[in-house]
Amino acid sequence: MSFIQENVSLKPFNTFAIAAVARYFVEIFSEDELVQLLSLNIIKDNDLLVLGGGSNILLTKDFSGLVIKISIPGISSQKEKDGFLVTAGAGVVWNDLVQYCVSNGLAGVENLSLIPGTVGASPIQNIGAYGVELKDVFHSCSAFEIATGAKKVFSYEECKFGYRDSIFKNELKGKYIISSVRFHLSASADLKTTYGAIQAELSSRNILQPTISDISAVVSDIRVSKLPDPSTIGNAGSFFKNPVISTRQYEEVKQSYPDIVSYPFGEGQVKLAAGWLIEQCGFKGKVVGETGTWKNQALVLVNHGHATGQEVYSFSEQIINEVCQKFGVKLEREVNIL
Ligand code: FAD
Ligand code: EPU
Repeated sequence: MSFIQENVSLKPFNTFAIAAVARYFVEIFSEDELVQLLSLNIIKDNDLLVLGGGSNILLTKDFSGLVIKISIPGISSQKEKDGFLVTAGAGVVWNDLVQYCVSNGLAGVENLSLIPGTVGASPIQNIGAYGVELKDVFHSCSAFEIATGAKKVFSYEECKFGYRDSIFKNELKGKYIISSVRFHLSASADLKTTYGAIQAELSSRNILQPTISDISAVVSDIRVSKLPDPSTIGNAGSFFKNPVISTRQYEEVKQSYPDIVSYPFGEGQVKLAAGWLIEQCGFKGKVVGETGTWKNQALVLVNHGHATGQEVYSFSEQIINEVCQKFGVKLEREVNIL
């Protein structure tokens, strides 16, 4: 365990690049260190913020408690009857795990290439992209209860995964720290190429029989063309979830807005493209002081350099209000607000 430091700048630890200070900060490199930390009084005496890559948070003020940065390393795999079980430490960079799988011919996570952040955060919001969600490859995860330091293995069923949702965002919010995640991957590629621009991109490259590696490359390129790179412009990806509404409400909105972009979402429900709703309100590429939306993707809020978290938050409030006024649909933030 690193020393518990005081008054640490969090700017390098959040992809929004918001300037904020943590009262206390510690980095954890193993499960043993985590158990040791959880036995200290500083845990009971302070608010806690568990941090991975900081790519899904917006800091609206200094953090007056203890930030626990999870940097537990390691990837291992074992052959099973019907595939491979791959286990990764919570601190492994998500895309490093994807590249490990791709280079070892293990299929299942290639559509999730280039999502920022760590393995430990991946079950929290059930990360997803290009037709695949974490839940499709999730086997189990190990986590430590903050209150007791006890270790527990969570099964797929126990995690209650949903669209950008899991038990860790609801009943167990702030109660467990994930130390590793186990994935079930396949050796025979059952590739998912129907979502978004994947097929068109493969065709333009004359790839008729794509490999896992082709999908990973194509998804990565599409992402780079649409999303801002946090190393040059601060952001946390989609700021809002795509809203899910009833089919009845959808039919009503569609009468006024026949071009509305939507996707089927189970019985009696429809998912709307929040980026479309936001763009229709005139926000795409809009710059408001130091914040705004990305020019190629209105769902992504950005920091043009010196935005405060409050400034970004107020702008998101304005977007929620205007989308609600125009379409009667309430956007929900996807990013964790602190
Ligand atoms: P952090 O931001 O550090 O933390 C996120 C939340 O998880 C916090 O509540 C934190 O307390 C909690 N947490 C983190 N680690 C642990 C742990 N070990 N144990 C318990 N709790 C923990 N997301 C998608 O789903 N799909 C995308 O396509 C996508 N694209 C993105 C593109 C860009 C450019 C950016 C910047 C973000 C994107 N995201 C996307 C969001 C983000 O990458 C994911 O939410 C990612 O899983 C966050 O990982 P992190 O390690 O950075 O988490
Ligand atoms: N659209 C617009 N204007 C915009 C943006 C989007 O009209 O400015 C419309 C277009 O019709 C477009 C459609 O919305 O075809 C969907 O856009 P896109 O393919 O970019 O995906 P998204 O629904 O905006 C979701 C995820 C992303 C994920 C992509 C790809 C959510 C909240 N976001 O975005 O995840 O990478 O699909 O699968 O579900 C994230 O969570 O941070 C994230 C980036």
